[in-house]
Formats: sequence, structure tokens, C-alpha cells
Amino acid sequence: MSVLRVFSRKMATAAKINNVVIIGGGLMGSGIAQVAAATGHNVTLVEVNDQLVDKAIGGIKKSLERVAKKQFKDDTAKGQEYIQGTLEKLKGSAKLEESVANSDLVIEAIIEKMPIKHELFSKIDAVAPKGTVFASNTSSLSIGEIGSITKRQDRFGGLHFFNPVPMMKLLEVIRTEKTSEETYQQLMEFGKRLGKTCITCKDTPGFVVNRLLVPYMAEAVRLLERGDASARDIDIAMKLGAGYPMGPFELSDYVGLDTTNNILQGWHEKYPDNPLFKPVKLVEKLVSEGKLGVKSGEGFYSYKK
Ligand code: 3HC
Repeated sequence: MSVLRVFSRKMATAAKINNVVIIGGGLMGSGIAQVAAATGHNVTLVEVNDQLVDKAIGGIKKSLERVAKKQFKDDTAKGQEYIQGTLEKLKGSAKLEESVANSDLVIEAIIEKMPIKHELFSKIDAVAPKGTVFASNTSSLSIGEIGSITKRQDRFGGLHFFNPVPMMKLLEVIRTEKTSEETYQQLMEFGKRLGKTCITCKDTPGFVVNRLLVPYMAEAVRLLERGDASARDIDIAMKLGAGYPMGPFELSDYVGLDTTNNILQGWHEKYPDNPLFKPVKLVEKLVSEGKLGVKSGEGFYSYKK
């Protein structure tokens, strides 16, 4: 049998993903849930209590209104139809085990702490159907290590989305050494159905985007710390001189300084000899003062009106 026929047979056996469970209703989890529901999947968004479920669904409604305003600017009725249609595909739940009972794919987007992710995945591994694929949206932890406590390492991979999820066109699909070909194909197919452009990356720190972006943002802060240029001028330089949509300080504030700081700290602990991963004092200071960027009202810039 030719290699091509073996490959197409494998493609044909990859089961379609219809029922998607997203765990974690923060910015990333909500964005993933929104896009999955908008593209016709049956989505359950899981949070730890009903209040957080409501908050997440409320955030999705606001984001859907923004998308509808942009996509259907000349047709309000179509825009309303799009919002309603998406919300009908989406439900919230605070019951973790119950939510995964009929799932094809579970995507985790919770706090970036390995023991907490392990606890979550062991719980759902025991109750989810055997064929359900598990994925993590981690920004910086090892997918293989997260999946190592499950009995389905062949059905475990990474789906790394970008903020804001409804706008960013890229999806990184992470394949560990244990991810099966079928699982990989299912994840790629799912990504395409979300309307994303998928790239594949091995299970290496930061995958492609964060591996380049986080050291770049850290280097920008070091430039500022040395007094070489102001934050405002560095941002202008990178927007007008390199064509980036946001400068490194605007982007750090947008992503959250706690996120960048956690990523650097985690990598530094694991790879202490890599100078690119060295935590940055000014970022640590701002985080310790609660200045986390846009979400807290202040970071490198102030967002208080
Ligand atoms: N939901 C829905 N629509 C949104 C949205 C959201 N969250 N954010 C922006 N939009 C849409 C809206 O239609 C908005 O119009 P509105 O304000 O009238 O509603 C429209 O986009 C335009 O937005 P803005 O005027 O604010 O600005 P831009 O045109 O510059 O686009 C941007 C915004 C897409 C965020 C752009 O600035 C950009 O691409 N920035 C870089 C973002 C980036 O690099 N993200 C990756 C970060 S790294 C990451 O996420 C990895 C993680 O692991 C850390």
C-alpha cells in the first residue's frame, strides 16, 4: 500500500469534533468558547462557580457584539442572528465532571500552575469518554508534562490561541512525542473549522510565538531600565519601524504583566543558564505593586480615565 493511501486512511478515521468543553472562563477560555460556538460547535464553558460562569458569558456577549458590529455593519438583523446563533451553541456550567461526560474535545485554559493542571486532568481523565481528546492552551508549560498524569497521552496535545482570540488568526497545534497521528489530525481539522491558520510545533518552551515574543518584550524592558529610550518611544519605534500593531509595552500591558512575569520565571527556573529567560526587575516590581496592565488599570501606562 502506498504511503499516500496509508495517510489518507488515517485522515479518514479521524473522528470529527462536535462537542467541545472549555475549562476556564478567563480571557483566553472565553475567547476560545466564543469562536468554537460561532463556528457551529456545541460548547460548554466550565468555571468553578455560577457567578464566574455568568461573568464569562457576559464577556462573550460583549465581544460578540463587537464582532457583529464589524462583520455585519450594514445589516443589523444579520448581526443579531449571528449573536443569537452563537449564544444558542454555548452553555455555561460549574459542574466539571458532568460537563465532560459527552465531550469530543476538552480544552483547558486555567491558571498556569502544573499541580493545578494535573489535578484537573486526573479528575476528568477518570470520567471523560475514552475517545475524548484533551488539549491545553498553556502559554509556557510543557504539554507532555501536563498530559503525563493521564491515561490518554496519545490523545493529548496543545492548542495555543492568541489574545484577542476572536481577532487573532493563528493557532499553534502542539504535538508531543506521544500525541497520535489521529489526534494531531483532529486538532488540525478543528483549528481549521474555527477559521484559524494552524501551524505545528514540537513541545518546546513557548512554542513559536511566545518563544520569540516574550524575550523580545523582556529586552524592551531592559532597554527602558538602562534609560536608553522611553517606553513611549520604544513603542513608536516598533510600530513605525518594524510594522508591529502594538509596541512591546502596549502589548505587555495588553497581555498582562503577571502573565509575562510568570512565563519568564517558569522558564528561568527550568533553564537558569539561558540569558533570554532572565526575569526582569521592573516587571517584577510592577507586578508586586498590582500594576498588571490594562486589566488592573495600570501597567507601563495608565488606563484610568
Ligand atoms: N473581541 C471582539 N472584537 C475585538 C476584540 C475582542 N476582544 N478586540 C478587538 N476587536 C475588534 C473590534 O471590532 C474592534 O472594534 P471596536 O473597538 O469598535 O469594537 C476592532 O477589532 C479594532 O480594535 P482596535 O481599534 O482596538 O484596534 P486594532 O485595529 O489595532 O486591533 C488588535 C486590535 C487585533 C488587538 C491589534 O492591535 C493587534 O493585533 N495587536 C497585537 C495583539 C497580539 O500580538 N496578540 C498576541 C499576544 S501573545 C498571546 O496572546 C499569547 C499568550 O500565550 C500570552
